[in-house]
Amino acid sequence: MDKQKAQLIVALDVATLDEAKKLVRALDGIVDTFKVGSQLFTACGPEAVRYLLREGKEVFLDLKFHDIPNTVAGALAAAVNITEGGRGIMMCTLHALGDLEMLEAAAQAARKEARITGVKRPLLVAITVLTSEARKDNIPRLVLERAALAKQAGLDGVVASSQEAALIRREFGKDFVIVTPGIRPKGSAAGDQKRVTTPADAIAHGSDFLVVGRPVVNAPDPAAAAKQILKEIEEANQ
Ligand code: C5P
Repeated sequence: MDKQKAQLIVALDVATLDEAKKLVRALDGIVDTFKVGSQLFTACGPEAVRYLLREGKEVFLDLKFHDIPNTVAGALAAAVNITEGGRGIMMCTLHALGDLEMLEAAAQAARKEARITGVKRPLLVAITVLTSEARKDNIPRLVLERAALAKQAGLDGVVASSQEAALIRREFGKDFVIVTPGIRPKGSAAGDQKRVTTPADAIAHGSDFLVVGRPVVNAPDPAAAAKQILKEIEEANQ
């Protein structure tokens, strides 16, 4: 990757806003971008996003929208409308399985709503194949097909494992955003993730954003765990 340096995003996969706040405070000055996913959003809704925006953090809203085009377009407009002090979310996920019409409707809705509200349009990235899936033997082909769909629909990029990142980078060029979860620093447990990778490998394969949850969230010292990952990222970025 040469357009910018790869960045760390910590997934706030916790049950309450209080737990999220505790983590954000522990990581203050170390991590700037946080992912709000279905667990935290279902527990406390847009307040989690607004809290992060008030703290000056960047927010990746990972709700993996997948529904009929009209409903997903409405969800995107609502997501763009979660703002605080004129700032909104920086990135949002939707599922490439929703097909072209759904992805196009979502992209259009996000553009329109950003224009109306005057906030910066969030990057829209499509989920290709979950990194916890390992059974399919045609994963690279599926990922490329879904990435092509995302590109055709006018999305900014995809979420994909590092194992497919290099293929995507080669096929779709340097401006296509690649977000990689399933990051495991050396020595940490994979959990339910099957297609895991180290931060250094993800960067070598072309990922722009590395999403890390449990290795930081469940660490006895989250700040130390994040610093270690950032060190690996820094070294790989050079
Ligand atoms: O704890 P762990 O580091 O495995 O967390 C990875 C995060 O990335 C989780 O919040 C999960 O929802 C998310 N994610 C993923 N695979 C995708 C997209 C998002 O694991 N394809």
